[in-house]
Amino acid sequence: MLGFSIIPRDCTLMNTSTEPDREHDTIRAVQWRGDRLCLLDQRLLPGEERWIECRDADQVTQAIRDLAVRGAPAIGIAAAWGVVLAAQQGAPLDPVLAMLRAARPTAVNLMWALDRMKARIVAGVGAAALEREAQAIQDEDLAANRHMGELGAALIAPGSGVLTHCNTGSLATAGYGTALGVIRAGVAAGRIDEVFAGETRPWQQGARLTMYELIRDKIPAHLIADSAAAHLMRSGKVQWVIVGADRIAANGDTANKIGTYQLAIAARHHGVKFMVVAPSSTVDMATPNGEAIEIELRHADELLSTGGRRTVVEGAQAWNPVFDVTPAELIDAIVTERGVIERPNEPVMQAVFGR
Ligand code: MRU
Repeated sequence: MLGFSIIPRDCTLMNTSTEPDREHDTIRAVQWRGDRLCLLDQRLLPGEERWIECRDADQVTQAIRDLAVRGAPAIGIAAAWGVVLAAQQGAPLDPVLAMLRAARPTAVNLMWALDRMKARIVAGVGAAALEREAQAIQDEDLAANRHMGELGAALIAPGSGVLTHCNTGSLATAGYGTALGVIRAGVAAGRIDEVFAGETRPWQQGARLTMYELIRDKIPAHLIADSAAAHLMRSGKVQWVIVGADRIAANGDTANKIGTYQLAIAARHHGVKFMVVAPSSTVDMATPNGEAIEIELRHADELLSTGGRRTVVEGAQAWNPVFDVTPAELIDAIVTERGVIERPNEPVMQAVFGR
């Protein structure tokens, strides 16, 4: 059994940088400390703000697998730091890369970050250069999020309401967030008047994490039951559904948290626009379409129990796919740091991302 150290004294929840508008973006959940990685344990939020400290790649792998750190960009960043820890300790790096890569299957940011680290290893660099590469991956993610925030917010008419799903904020990224970054920017610009977040059963990323993040950062928001989404759209209160992504295929098909697909169908039916916000590290031009994306199946207990307490009759079984694929034709805009792709399809994706 691998154990984490907890509550290191010098890890702080606060964004202590000099970035603009940091009072509305206070969380930095993945923090490198030179010889260890501090992670805000997302399994315990919002009840407890506990940090865990990973001192080797095994512990980073376990943290990714167990969802202590989660969200596509954040797991890629954490994995890059896991490689740095292994290099500092003189561990053989190929097995470490393979172990981290296998931690979760759907979010391509994990593989993208490890491929980037591998390219530096193949070039023969040492631990210090690998540390610079991991830092660059983290810094570039934050910069991409800020840029996407501006691009996405510009698509939204002043006075709009928006619905988001899962958690795509500072907790899921290097900071600021993807879909939640657009929401931050849209609220700041006066374009978004009302924010709704779906609870995101079964792991409750929306209820536990997005609401925590928004309320902490003074962005008013309403939680809805996932099953209230179509009714909300019919009410006219939301003009956009804004979500993140775990992998965007070459034709624009997008894998994201389970429940995203049904939101896209309901949005199209009600004339509500549907926006996907993700950095280019989420785009996988080697995967032709959504059919080819591996969907992570997690343990049935996530559905059969709540907060560690069994809520479903003993003997019941459950099927727990944690992502689904939204076909490109249901997406009005994909926002990346390279620009906005409206009505995505293979030729447009090819033009922006090549092969
Ligand atoms: O299982 P999770 O919590 O890692 O799933 C996260 C999502 O599906 C997010 O929407 C996605 O990774 C984008 S995060 C910026």
